[in-house]
Amino acid sequence: MLSEDSGGWRRVVLEKPFGSDLESARNLQRRISRHLKEDQTYRIDHYMGKAMVQNVLVSRFANLLLEPLWNRNYIDHVQITRSETLGVGDRAAFYENTGALRDMLQSHLMQMMALVAMEAPVSMESNELRDEKVKVLKSIRPIHPAAVSSNAFRAQYARGMIDGASVPAYLEESGVDPHSVTETYAAVKLYVDNWRWRGVPFYLRTGKRLPEPRTMVAINFKPPPKQFFRSSHIERPPPNWLIMSVSPEESLRLEITVKEPGMTMQTRQISLEAPFRCEHHKQTGAYEGLLLDVLEGDSSLFLRYDEVEWAWRVVDPILSVWATERDFIHTYPAGEEEPTEVSWIFDKPYQYWRNALEPAQWPSGSC
Ligand code: BG6
Repeated sequence: MLSEDSGGWRRVVLEKPFGSDLESARNLQRRISRHLKEDQTYRIDHYMGKAMVQNVLVSRFANLLLEPLWNRNYIDHVQITRSETLGVGDRAAFYENTGALRDMLQSHLMQMMALVAMEAPVSMESNELRDEKVKVLKSIRPIHPAAVSSNAFRAQYARGMIDGASVPAYLEESGVDPHSVTETYAAVKLYVDNWRWRGVPFYLRTGKRLPEPRTMVAINFKPPPKQFFRSSHIERPPPNWLIMSVSPEESLRLEITVKEPGMTMQTRQISLEAPFRCEHHKQTGAYEGLLLDVLEGDSSLFLRYDEVEWAWRVVDPILSVWATERDFIHTYPAGEEEPTEVSWIFDKPYQYWRNALEPAQWPSGSC
């Protein structure tokens, strides 16, 4: 054991990924626990150090406004997205054995999901907070191997254009096996089978070489029970969205329907948008704050071992099925949206990906 007998402390920070599947994570934990106590172990996920990710917690638990709506009665579905324009760069050796599901989704995106879905903790004390995150991960409905193809989708970038310059396909990147089926894009549908969320799909997706860099949580609300103001050509009124944008904008955006100015009772969409940071607010890096927490012995934003284990349990069936499917992977040209086949995972025909903070065109026209 790493001794603290001299009266000081010894803490070890471990960068993700913690293992590469459930079994390897367990083995790693077994070995680590011979030398470190849990309170000396700081499993870092830099998303937990991002101000807007922490703001998910604050928005939810420092305001009463959202709480009555934050459940299966009012929310249709939740989308959590991290899209990057970057490719694998010089990390092919790492990425080839990792892929988007392990690299981003099992860690960063599921951590964000836990913050969106968790119950209010008894206090913000580190174990109370993590207990609630674990409960969410434990409540995620296991994906049966036979259902992987309807709940998860993977793809790989092909040659394309990013910012006006042509970029190679993943298979052409140096260090990548030319027959590799490692995914550079992954999307997964998850259900949290508890009282608050049963039946509400959480769509998590991430990819490299997509058109725009963006990280956001998009909450899609159900339509009102009766449409008084529907214009005849609109089958389904535009939904309310609440967008918690983590990057590049740091903002909260709520979209609602209002009356169109003029004599007729037409409707349109407007947004209420609030930037998180003013000019005088200093930007600090995600790791800065987390490393300070290590020095201060505050582990609330670090992953406890059971969180890691439950997150692997969720993605393990997908990894196992994908590992056997070595012949084919969908592709998308770099700089373009993911293949349309990803929409197989949507639960309802009217659901669609929310790609931008500002929608290109609102269904019923805005200013
Ligand atoms: C890392 C992944 O954990 O997160 C990288 O290994 C990814 O592949 C990076 O590019 C993204 O982090 P951020 O903060 O830019 O969203």
